[in-house]
Amino acid sequence: MTPADSIRLLPIHLQDLETLMGIETASYRFPWSRGNFVDSLAAGYRMTKRVDAGGGWLGYFVAMRGVDETHLLNLTVAPAHQRQGHGRAMLDELVRWTRELGAARLWLEVRESNVDAQRLYRRYGFRDAGHRRGYYPAGPLGRENAIVMHLELGDAA
Ligand SMILES: CC(C)(COP(=O)(O)OP(=O)(O)OC[C@H]1O[C@@H](n2cnc3c(N)ncnc32)[C@H](O)[C@@H]1OP(=O)(O)O)[C@@H](O)C(=O)NCCC(=O)NCCS
Repeated sequence: MTPADSIRLLPIHLQDLETLMGIETASYRFPWSRGNFVDSLAAGYRMTKRVDAGGGWLGYFVAMRGVDETHLLNLTVAPAHQRQGHGRAMLDELVRWTRELGAARLWLEVRESNVDAQRLYRRYGFRDAGHRRGYYPAGPLGRENAIVMHLELGDAA
């Protein structure tokens, strides 16, 4: 069995939020609050952690199901585990889940300044759909625009 075989995807529960917030605050200049994750659990959004054989967190995602689409709200790989394929693997799971729901596309927003994440999404097959002005907080600089991207499942990598 290789280390990749022992990686698991598990549901996130309330008692996971302390560990999750440690990764969230280490990963973003403007992290989600604990309340954002509590609200996501209460709303029934899909919240999934990716863990190694020992239960150590590699990353997580939050996604919402719509009528004919799903919407990725948060995708995070723990800083020590970035650039090892975990982000791409979680997108694979989101595509699998979207298909299982019978939905045709996956949406997401990404900061205009987050070129690393944009690179992941574009290489995966996401296309730009437009911009949302001032979508994200940006501290004293004001607000930052989002790029809205979508993946049509016929195009998935
Ligand atoms: C963006 C993020 C989710 C990518 O996950 P990851 O596991 O590090 O990425 P992967 O190893 O799956 O990379 C897949 C491809 O995406 C691109 N990519 C990912 N991270 C990159 C980086 N830092 N610089 C350039 N390209 C990058 C590359 O094309 C990469 O393929 P390659 O390694 O064969 O060149 C992760 O770095 C992260 O959590 N960053 C901080 C939080 C964040 O910005 N989340 C996204 C919010 S929209």
